[in-house]
Amino acid sequence: MQLTPEEQEMLAGRHGNAKRKAMELLVALGTIYGADRLIPITSAHLSGVSYKTIGEGGIDFLEEMARDGKVAVPTTLNPMGMDSQRWREMGIGERFAERQLHIISLYERMGVDVSCTCTPYLLTNRPKVGEHIAWAESSALSFANSVLGARTNREGGPGALAAAITGRTPNYGLHLDRNRRPTHVVEVEEGITREEWSLVGHTVGRKLGACIPFFRGLGNDANGLKSLAAAMAASGSVAMFMVDKVTPEQPDSLEGLPVLKVTRKDVEETVSRLRTGDRPDLIAIGCPHLSEREIKELAGYLDGKEKRSGVEVWFCTSKGVWLRCPKERAVLERFGKVLCDTCMVVAPIEGLHQVTASDSAKACAYLPGLCSQKVFCGTQRELLEMIL
Ligand code: F3S
Repeated sequence: MQLTPEEQEMLAGRHGNAKRKAMELLVALGTIYGADRLIPITSAHLSGVSYKTIGEGGIDFLEEMARDGKVAVPTTLNPMGMDSQRWREMGIGERFAERQLHIISLYERMGVDVSCTCTPYLLTNRPKVGEHIAWAESSALSFANSVLGARTNREGGPGALAAAITGRTPNYGLHLDRNRRPTHVVEVEEGITREEWSLVGHTVGRKLGACIPFFRGLGNDANGLKSLAAAMAASGSVAMFMVDKVTPEQPDSLEGLPVLKVTRKDVEETVSRLRTGDRPDLIAIGCPHLSEREIKELAGYLDGKEKRSGVEVWFCTSKGVWLRCPKERAVLERFGKVLCDTCMVVAPIEGLHQVTASDSAKACAYLPGLCSQKVFCGTQRELLEMIL
């Protein structure tokens, strides 16, 4: 891999220890994947934030990087393990909270924007078509590649941090035109609604695995697309998809590509796979984090209704969206907690809850393994009707 004189200096440690470590990591990644050089990035988004997922080993790494490391490009953070204000109400213990806040302080020291969300593109970190970025949240990076037309590989937490600190990433994979072409055509049966796109995504990811599907007959609903991106990334490691007339890069030809039809029967089969429990003690909505429009739609539906069940309900969103919706969140608070900075998967809910219901196929795919939960997947309406 060709390095510029400045990059060679970083690798030799002349710009400090954090830059040296970061450059070593990027050179190792670039060598493994056959990159010819490093390319500049315009932003980074980091995972590896919850104390539950990174533990003390992750803290040791961050402490070392934060000694002299500073991010070189605008950098945002994924959700952490708790709402920074309401962690006691979530049932989180003092020790977890202290370690979690320590992690956030380390990122802050490195200059990272610590509003923790998996939808940074709804706030300040919204890359434009053709920008090279290094993002590490699978749902967000897929949205960035597929809907915004930016370019990122599926980064891990340390790789994205290394890119943020050097302002560069190895030039391979989805940074290259030749790897951004569809591998399959997906036709979605008429009558499948936007609320079900998460289930469509889970179905496609499960059936095709890592691929670049081109969707026909889907339309352009940003909230539906964020759910689709999240579900496909979780079930099939899909880092990019294309939607007819939506994705900025449209293919010249689809000739000869295998076609997958997603039918009502497929969606029903996916629902039954994602229902391993039936009496939820937690209903969690907002994976990926709720957008302003989703919060307004939820509040519009719930306003004037009454909660008739004691089941705990979480609406997960970003602090930025939370700030924009004061009236609507007051409505939602009558039915549950509007939580910021966190989500049902990265919070330590194991031991606190046994059966979690969610409208997100991604959450329902991860909750059994990461949180020891039985799950109940349903549309938002189905879940809310359980408490009305
Ligand atoms: Fe976001 Fe958590 Fe889902 S990070 S995509 S809400 S699992």
